[in-house]
Amino acid sequence: MLRPPELTPRAEPTWDDALVVEHEVIDGYYHRLVLHSPSITGRATAGQFVMITVPSDGGATVLLPRPMAIHRRRVDTGNLEVIFSVLGRGTAALARIAPGDSLLLTGPLGRGFELPAGAASVLLIAHGSGICAVMTVAEDARAAGMTTSAMLSTAFRSTALGEPDCRELGIDAVFVAEDDGSNTIGLITADLRQRFDTSPPSVIMVCGSGALARAAVALGQRWRTPVQVSVEAHMACGLGYCHGCAAPVATRADEEGPLVCRDGPVFDGYVVA
Ligand SMILES: Cc1cc2nc3c(=O)[nH]c(=O)nc-3n(C[C@H](O)[C@H](O)[C@H](O)COP(=O)(O)OP(=O)(O)OC[C@H]3O[C@@H](n4cnc5c(N)ncnc54)[C@H](O)[C@@H]3O)c2cc1C
Ligand code: FES
Repeated sequence: MLRPPELTPRAEPTWDDALVVEHEVIDGYYHRLVLHSPSITGRATAGQFVMITVPSDGGATVLLPRPMAIHRRRVDTGNLEVIFSVLGRGTAALARIAPGDSLLLTGPLGRGFELPAGAASVLLIAHGSGICAVMTVAEDARAAGMTTSAMLSTAFRSTALGEPDCRELGIDAVFVAEDDGSNTIGLITADLRQRFDTSPPSVIMVCGSGALARAAVALGQRWRTPVQVSVEAHMACGLGYCHGCAAPVATRADEEGPLVCRDGPVFDGYVVA
């Protein structure tokens, strides 16, 4: 089984014309958008995402919306945050958006992370923009009084994506980076074993790369801890209609496998990693 049935029904996704409240460029590489959307912010659960319709850019139109994890939910202001780096045409156009503009969002979408009943502590492991997918779990875990730890890895030490969020939420976070040599699976695993072998977390939540997910699953097996992994796929609709986002799960030739947008993006790590 991919995951146990959902305990509570998901909110129906809706469209919203969201005002761009803030656009921050982080270390010249990541773009953090604060978007005013009370209807989506108030109904989003941890690990869900939105589809963002790419605004017309110099007359050229990008047909398909782009999926982005909801990085933070600020229910009091009705704002949600997304963080992205520029990969291709869609994110390049989004990088040119300015405060005062608006963006068409569809959301909240997908099945996200779920804190198991009775869990006392959670360990978040994430890399790069995957850090944006796990921070909403940290919000929930902290609100529930759970001990929350994080191992966050980036390409550059100066970026330290998620650092302000961890500080705000009171999360015990370790940051590793490729440019100082501390960001290797071996070093990450050794550090986590040293910190958690005697007192393992109740659950591990991961997003970032296949290698990181496999390392997390190996730790989960060592500690007998459940692992939830958020995966990515190219998405055309985000709604389960186009069937174009098959999850990386082995299926029989005669059956359709799960879809990342509808059945995920979060799956049982023991099934997908
Ligand atoms: C559920 C979900 C949540 C996501 N959350 C975030 C987020 O919080 N921050 C963020 O920066 N990105 C996130 N992404 C990835 C983001 O959607 C893509 O980077 C974006 O759609 C690329 O659009 P583009 O038009 O710039 O690039 P395109 O022109 O579509 O593609 C440019 C290049 O990037 C590759 N590419 C495109 N999409 C992906 C992908 N999903 N994975 C790997 N390679 C890809 C293409 O193959 C191509 O080589 C998420 C994806 C999913 C499925
Ligand atoms: S993106 Fe269309 S079904 Fe998942």
